[in-house]
Amino acid sequence: MNQDQLKQAVAKAAVDYIRPKLEAYSIVGVGTGSTANFFIDYLAEIKGDFQGAVASSEATAERLKGHGIPVFDLNEVDSMAVYVDGADESNPELALIKGGGAALTREKIVAAVADEFVCIADSSKWVDCLGQFPLPVEVIPMARSYVARELLKLGGDPVYRQGVLTDNGNVILDVHNMQIDKPIELERAINSIVGVVTNGLFAERSADVLLLGGTDGVKEIRK
Ligand code: A5P
Repeated sequence: MNQDQLKQAVAKAAVDYIRPKLEAYSIVGVGTGSTANFFIDYLAEIKGDFQGAVASSEATAERLKGHGIPVFDLNEVDSMAVYVDGADESNPELALIKGGGAALTREKIVAAVADEFVCIADSSKWVDCLGQFPLPVEVIPMARSYVARELLKLGGDPVYRQGVLTDNGNVILDVHNMQIDKPIELERAINSIVGVVTNGLFAERSADVLLLGGTDGVKEIRK
């Protein structure tokens, strides 16, 4: 199986996993990226089983609407049964790096609201130690140079993601060469830099379950 087929397999597995948890009034939080896109396509097949979705990006909202799935503003919903999203890396504690698609802030907000965070990924995303994938940091544009200098002090090599503006109108710094032994501490340290909106470490709010797709099938991994 190629990587897209593995992503499709975990996307389908995620729909099978969440389906028994859904009620007619349920809201599903939906992530961003190629794996999330496959999930949306399968989710459309059961759209009669739940009320609608909250999207973590404009792109995801468009895809959901294209399938006729109602999209709600997060401020309109009181609760969310489940959030399903991909990741750029996961470690065995299910701490994640996310934000390769620049949607990290809205993803983190939606994940915070959900009762359960289901991460879906192909086996290339599984690592012992986070940090091979450059860590995205969303930054208020006027703070870009200052935040970059602060990130250097933390031991990383920040690179400005040229030509990318987030859905929130901010810029992204991708931090290379970080070996992330203490994800929660680093997540907090970066978020405390003035001008940072958030960073792509999902360690304080890690995934609850990871559906990991490999050539031998989809594994359900918990902490
Ligand atoms: C989007 O900003 C990211 O957090 C994605 O969830 C992550 O980059 C995974 O993307 P793919 O599913 O495309 O690999």
